[in-house]
Amino acid sequence: MDIIADRLKGMPTYLFMRLRNKIKQIEATGADCISLAIGDPVEPTPAYIIDTLREAVLDPDNHQYPTDEQKGMLAFRKAVARWYHRKYAVTLEPETEVLTLGGSKEGIHHFMMAAINPGDTILITNPGYPGYRANILLAGGRAHEVPLLGKNGFLPQLEEIPEDVCRRAKAFFLNYPNNPTGACADSRFFTRLVAWARRHNILLVHDNPYSELVFPGSERLSLLQIPGAKDISVEFNSLSKYYNMTGWRIGMAVGNRSIIQAMCKFKENVTSGVFNAIQLASIKAMDEGDADIDNMLAVYRRRREMVLKACERMRISTNAGMGTFYLWLQVPNGLSSIAFAEKLLDDVCVLVTAGTAYGQYGEGYFRLSLTVPDARLQEALHRMQESIG
Ligand SMILES: Cc1ncc(COP(=O)(O)O)c(C=O)c1O
Repeated sequence: MDIIADRLKGMPTYLFMRLRNKIKQIEATGADCISLAIGDPVEPTPAYIIDTLREAVLDPDNHQYPTDEQKGMLAFRKAVARWYHRKYAVTLEPETEVLTLGGSKEGIHHFMMAAINPGDTILITNPGYPGYRANILLAGGRAHEVPLLGKNGFLPQLEEIPEDVCRRAKAFFLNYPNNPTGACADSRFFTRLVAWARRHNILLVHDNPYSELVFPGSERLSLLQIPGAKDISVEFNSLSKYYNMTGWRIGMAVGNRSIIQAMCKFKENVTSGVFNAIQLASIKAMDEGDADIDNMLAVYRRRREMVLKACERMRISTNAGMGTFYLWLQVPNGLSSIAFAEKLLDDVCVLVTAGTAYGQYGEGYFRLSLTVPDARLQEALHRMQESIG
C-alpha cells in the first residue's frame, strides 16, 4: 500500500532536520562537530520569564484548554498590541488584528492553507527560508521565485517581476531582516513595496521574526508601519529569537483582519492553541524584556565582529547585512557552495549551511549562525582557517 500522500511526495526532508541528522551521525563517530548551521540561541531564556511560567504552571485554570483556544488569550493579544505600538508605533486591535501562533513557522502554514487555492501563484524570494516553498506545495500552489542578488542589497527588484506573473500572483512572501542574507529593508523600500502590491492586488505576507535583531545603523521595522499596509498585509512575528525562546513555540500574526479571520478559521480546526502558561510568561517577556533583546544583540555584535575579522584573514569577502544573527558569506577559492560546506565538514568538522540550500541564487555563498558560544565560534574559525589554508 502506498501510504504517502501525493502532496508529500515531491517534498524534500526539511533542511534543518537534514542538518540535525548530519550532526548526530558525525557525533556518533565520536568526532567533535561544531555546527554553525542552525539559528537556535544557546543562552537560556531570562529567569523572570521562566519564573512566570513556573507560577502559571501551578494554577489549575491553566491546565485546561487554552483560553480563547485558537485566537490566544486576550491578555496575550493585548500584550502584542502594546509591544507593536511601543516598538513600531503600529496600532492593532487585539480582538480582530492579532492571532497567537505556535511560532512564526505555524503562521506560514496557516496562511497558505487559509488563503491559497490549488494552482494559485505565490511569490517567494530566492534565496529564501525553505518553509515558504514547502507550504506552497502543501497547499497545491505554485511558487514563483524572485531573485535576491548582492548587487541589489538582497532586495527584490519589483519592476523586474514579469507583468503576467504580477497579474496571477495572489501573495508575496518576504522576510526582512532576511534569513539567510542578513539584509535589512528600509522604510523607503517597504513604501514602494506596499504601493506596488496595492497596484497589482497582491497580498503581502511579511515574515518578521528578526525585526528586533538589527545592528546600529539600520532600523527596526514592521511592514505595518507603512500607511495602507494593513489593508493588504499580514505580518508574522515570534518570541523565539528575541528572548531565547525557540523551544517554547510562541509567536503572533498581526495585520489585516480578513486574513487573520481566515487563518483563525483554519487554525481552530487543526490546533487548540498555545498553553496558557506559555502565553502568560510571554506577556512578561514582551512587557519587560527590551533590555534582554539589547543584551543579546550586543553578544551577536561581538561575535559578528569576530567572524568578520577572521574572514579578512581568510580572504573571504563579506558584505555583511545589518540584521539577524546570520552572516551570509562568499565561498572562497572558486568552490561551489556545496563543495565548500563538504570540505569544511570533512577537513575540520565544522558545519555551515551551503547557500544553495536556500535556492539556486544562494550559489557562491554559505550561511553561518552566530548562535554558538564565543569560544566555540573562535574554535570553529581557527578550524576554518586551517581548512582554507
Ligand atoms: C525566516 C524565518 N521564518 C520563520 C522561522 C520560524 O520561527 P519560529 O521559531 O517563530 O517558528 C524562522 C526560523 O529560523 C525563520 O528564519
